[in-house]
Order: sequence, then C-alpha cells, then structure tokens
Amino acid sequence: MYYTGTFFSLDILAGMQSLLILGRQPALGLAELESWCAADKIMPIGNNAVTVDIDPAELPFFRFGGSIKLTKVLTELPHADFKKAIEYINKTIPEHLQYIPEGKIKFGISVYGLRVQTNDINRATLHIKKTIKAAGRSVRVVPNNEPSLNSAQVLHNQLTSPVGMELVLVHNNGKTILAQTVAEQDIEAYAARDQKRPKRDAKVGMLPPKLAQIIINLSGNNFTRQQVTEAGLNTTQENSLASLATLLDPFCGTGVVLQEALLMGFNAYGTDLDKRMVEYSQANLEWLTSRQNVSGSYKVSAGDATTTTWEPFHGIAGETYLGRPFSAQPDPKVLQEVMQDVSFIHKKFLQNVARQTEPGFRMCIAVPAWKTSSGFKHLKTLDNLEELGYTRMEFVHAKAEDLIYHREGQVVARELVVLVRK
Ligand SMILES: C[S@@+](CC[C@H](N)C(=O)[O-])C[C@H]1O[C@@H](n2cnc3c(N)ncnc32)[C@H](O)[C@@H]1O
Repeated sequence: MYYTGTFFSLDILAGMQSLLILGRQPALGLAELESWCAADKIMPIGNNAVTVDIDPAELPFFRFGGSIKLTKVLTELPHADFKKAIEYINKTIPEHLQYIPEGKIKFGISVYGLRVQTNDINRATLHIKKTIKAAGRSVRVVPNNEPSLNSAQVLHNQLTSPVGMELVLVHNNGKTILAQTVAEQDIEAYAARDQKRPKRDAKVGMLPPKLAQIIINLSGNNFTRQQVTEAGLNTTQENSLASLATLLDPFCGTGVVLQEALLMGFNAYGTDLDKRMVEYSQANLEWLTSRQNVSGSYKVSAGDATTTTWEPFHGIAGETYLGRPFSAQPDPKVLQEVMQDVSFIHKKFLQNVARQTEPGFRMCIAVPAWKTSSGFKHLKTLDNLEELGYTRMEFVHAKAEDLIYHREGQVVARELVVLVRK
C-alpha cells in the first residue's frame, strides 16, 4: 500500500469504498475508470465525483489522469445539511484522534455540491480546530478560498500525510457522503514531466501528461483489477505485468504518450513521419529514464503511419495528426480543406492498422474535432468506422460526445475515440 495517511477511523477501514473527485472534464475520468474495472462497480455522484466499490489501496490512483483526489468513504449521513454534518464531525472526531501519530495535526475540509458559503466552511473548520485542541492535540487548519481545497493546498499542507486529515463532504441525492482524502494528484510531478523535458514543440501541440494517461488507460491495455489479482500481484507490482506489453504511438511527436507509457510500466514504441520529432522523442525518453527507474524499454523510429509495417506491438495509444493549428476561427472553406486532408490520413492510418492487427484489438486515439460557433465538427473518418473494420466502443458512464478534451478559446479539440477491430 502506498498511501500513508491516517484514516479517520480504523474500525471502519475494512471493505470500504473509494470516492474519487474527477477532473475538469468528468466524463474523461469516468471512461478511464470504466476501462479499469467493471462498470457496475462505478457510481457517479453529482457532477464531479464517483464512488468505486473497491478499497482505495487497490486503486492505481497515480495512473488515473482524470481524477484529482482519492478518498475513502467513511460514512453516509442521512441529510444534505452542512451544519448537521459539521455537528456530526465535531461529535465524533475526538475519539479518532488517537489514531493520528504524535505531532501537529493538519486539518482541512472540502465540500462538493452542498449548499454552503466558503465563509461558513471556514467558520466550521475553526470550530473543529477548537474541538481538536480541547482534546489535547495541537492542530493547524487550512483555510478555504473556495468550497473545496485545491491540489496545491492539500499537498503543501501535507493533508495526506500521517498527521494530515482532509475531510470531504459530497452531496448525494439528499444525503451527504463523508470521506477522507488518502491521495491527491501529484501536480508537481505532472508539471515537471511536462515542462522540464528537454524537447518541446508548441506546433505539434502540447499534450498534457494527464491526458496521455487517460488515452493509455482507454486503450484498454492497462491491466484490469481482475488480471492483476489473477497474476497474484498487488497494485504497486502492476507495472511488472504491464512491462510484458508494448504500447505503440504511431504519431509520437515529442513523446508525451511514450513517456507516460514507460512510467506506467509498458514498453514504449513510437514512430513519426518527421525525423526531427523522432529525435525529440528519443531525447525526451533519454531524459526521463536518466531520472526515473522504469521497468519497460523504449524505441523510436521514423515511419509514415499510413504505410509503415510496425514491429510487434500489443496496443495503440496516441494523439494523431491534428492538422493545421488555428489560433482563431478559420474561414469555413479553409476548415473544410483541412478536415478533408486530415480525414484522408486517418482513413489510410486505420486501414494500415487493420492490416496488422487481429479482431478484438482495442486502441484509443485522440483525433481532432473543430470547435465552431455551431458546435464541434467531427472528423469525417468517424462516420465510416464500420467500413474500415472497426466498432467504436461505448461507455456506460460517459457519452461519446463528452469525450472531447477542449479548453476555452481553442479551435482544435481532441476527441478520444476507442476502437475495437471487428
Ligand atoms: C499532434 S502531433 C502529436 C504530438 C505528440 N502527442 C507529442 O507528445 O508531442 C502529431 C504528430 O503526427 C506526425 N504525423 C503527421 N502525419 C503523420 C503520418 N502520416 N505518419 C506519422 N506521423 C505523422 C507529426 O509529425 C506530429 O509529430
């Protein structure tokens, strides 16, 4: 187990559920979780949370780019009343302090979906501070700027350390789930992987490492909980199973997906039409592996994804050719031309992959979708998937139209498409 936080109560540890707080685009996080465990273990809660019927210690949280907070469910209160929830915490917290090791306790509260002002949360936190002090423990509380604490606040204030405690209150259909954070997304590690690598190129696009993790998870080559259990491994040993598999990114660019694949334990294999990009990926992977231990190996070579015969691979995950970048809405005629050009390349690429894979082969590609005043325009190739020999995979908890990664003001978005070879 790689979480060090002290749990709110040890007697309710066994067999408890996880609750995850999802990222900015919750559908991405839901599809990712559904790629890892059975859909019936997953229950979306409100707009940005989800419970998973698996103990948090068994979830490979740091591989999930779509979730920002991993918590353990402590109890469900039969109302959606913040004040009453705080009363409950005040009453029960003294008996739980014995489980927290000596030293100054760090305490904070995050609230999702309950009707409450930030000021009221701060007042409640101070009230709990008094209760903890009255029980003989020293404590520092983290003030809220918003109803929920952000990742920087949780990490910098050590709320997931043994002396830390972030309590999370989530509105669930007239009830309130009370949970405690056990892990927070490592924003510093993500930023370092993204910004400190030696070769970057704004023109090929800056794929965020979190999104790369999501693409890899959706590619389905991630080992499922059942496979990990069958192989007799625990979650931290999962990488040793992944290293049996080679993940191919046929449009590898500067190698963000390859980097994340290596960190997740896969062998990483990248090809790109542009020799300069091959050099960039190579340099970035050398940089990564000189700093971090990885179990898998990597190789990168030049190749046109529409014609190359690849060396053996087990899965495909990557961001494809997105066409020309646009900083403002293009002329409709220009957009039409770009879309046609990009669609043609995708069609040839998918035909090439179909020639080299078996039925049942699953992959995830992030393809362009263009934001216009009348909504998203989709890649035309997506209308002909059946003819090309693929079925588009659907998720129980996420609609296909929500699997588009888009930032305000961007014209070119990335649509995440999971394909299964027929
Ligand atoms: C959007 S970028 C991918 C960026 C990548 N995710 C990264 O981490 O930097 C698309 C890449 O596809 C490459 N490309 C374009 N057409 C290609 C083709 N037919 N075959 C292989 N690569 C191609 C481009 O050189 C570019 O590096």
